[in-house]
Amino acid sequence: MSEPILHGPELLARFQELDAFLVRHQALWRPKPFTQLQLPWEAELPQLAAWLRGRTLEQAEANHGEPWALDAPAPFAQLAGRARALAALGELPSAELPSRPSRFGVDVPGRKLEQIQAFASRLRFDRRPRHWLDWCAGKGHLGRWLTHEDQRLTCLEYDPALVAAGVELSRRLTLDATHRQQDVLAESATACLEAEHTPVALHACGDLHVRLLHLASARGCRQLAVAPCCYNRTTAMQYQPLSNAARVSTLSLSRDDLGLPLSETVTAGARERRQRDRSMAWRLAFDLLQRQLRDSDRYLPTPSLNSAWFAKPFATFCQDLALLRGAPPPGEQDWSALEARGWQRLAEVRNLELLRNLFRRPLELWLLLDRALYLQEQGFTVQLGSFCDYRLSPRNLLLLAERA
Ligand SMILES: C[S@@+](CC[C@H](N)C(=O)[O-])C[C@H]1O[C@@H](n2cnc3c(N)ncnc32)[C@H](O)[C@@H]1O
Repeated sequence: MSEPILHGPELLARFQELDAFLVRHQALWRPKPFTQLQLPWEAELPQLAAWLRGRTLEQAEANHGEPWALDAPAPFAQLAGRARALAALGELPSAELPSRPSRFGVDVPGRKLEQIQAFASRLRFDRRPRHWLDWCAGKGHLGRWLTHEDQRLTCLEYDPALVAAGVELSRRLTLDATHRQQDVLAESATACLEAEHTPVALHACGDLHVRLLHLASARGCRQLAVAPCCYNRTTAMQYQPLSNAARVSTLSLSRDDLGLPLSETVTAGARERRQRDRSMAWRLAFDLLQRQLRDSDRYLPTPSLNSAWFAKPFATFCQDLALLRGAPPPGEQDWSALEARGWQRLAEVRNLELLRNLFRRPLELWLLLDRALYLQEQGFTVQLGSFCDYRLSPRNLLLLAERA
């Protein structure tokens, strides 16, 4: 049976089921194996913990995309089944689209073009949009793809270089487009939205798409389509619920928790993965070292480091990082043993994360449903479903909203 898209009363019903599931099992998904040597749940589920810790890095990778297929001790399979059922969401129906001349795809990177085509193909509104508003538009590729002869386009973007590139691309296609340099979080953004606009946002981060939902509702827009991403890009340290249902939930989310849905990299190539593994293994090794040097059993955050850091010998990497983070100098160490322990920890972390990852999609859907329910409260009829395959973009969920 194909999976359902969500609309009407199903939005609240699914939200409440997800809410109960996430609240009940928060001890399993909140603690991060990367920053804690021992997770509190391991004492409750020693068999599962030992089984996961006994596996290799390659085994963790093999099950990465399909954790429910894992033959792990209880209650893994039961949790996986429930998580999968609660996160099930179908594809939004496709709309009949007039084809676009190929010149509209010129200069759009291949993967982005496919995402745009998929996004555009799901936009079925009762009334034909007259004026598209591409929110955090970049160069405005999405807006241009959507805009036909009798329609207008406004793109909002705060990076002047992207605005200038967008102006040039629209000019070449002789489109009726305005590219405005605008910080959408600034007070002045309010005046950029008009009731006749149909806002669209493809992968606008945390505060940026939330701002759109608020402004579009307040300014009387009648249609919008939003595919959110980066829920953790917010100024607030604690998640600010949007809907009444989320406001009464006992689930309180830190900014760190909001990163859970984003922690998968389905699009990375083999070389990228190898670099990422090395960077993580070295950081985990450094974590063991810094605990010893500082005589403290606490994780010490390290900043993002460019690739030159990982081209250094491992000992130099640790010495330089200790200096950067104000830890005592490491002195003489058995560097190869320490590096090997980092790799061993990486294998354990990746396998322990298989349990945490079961909650990734349920949490993402909880966040999407908070947005959907907010729009419903604002008088919109809302549909929530996917717009493209997960492998094309893991942020493949789309909110479609329209009101009379
Ligand atoms: C993830 S990109 C998405 C761009 C485009 N929608 C796409 O799918 O290619 C987010 C865009 O938001 C822009 N942006 C970030 N903060 C902004 C702000 N405060 N106001 C306006 N645009 C912003 C960035 O410059 C970037 O172009």
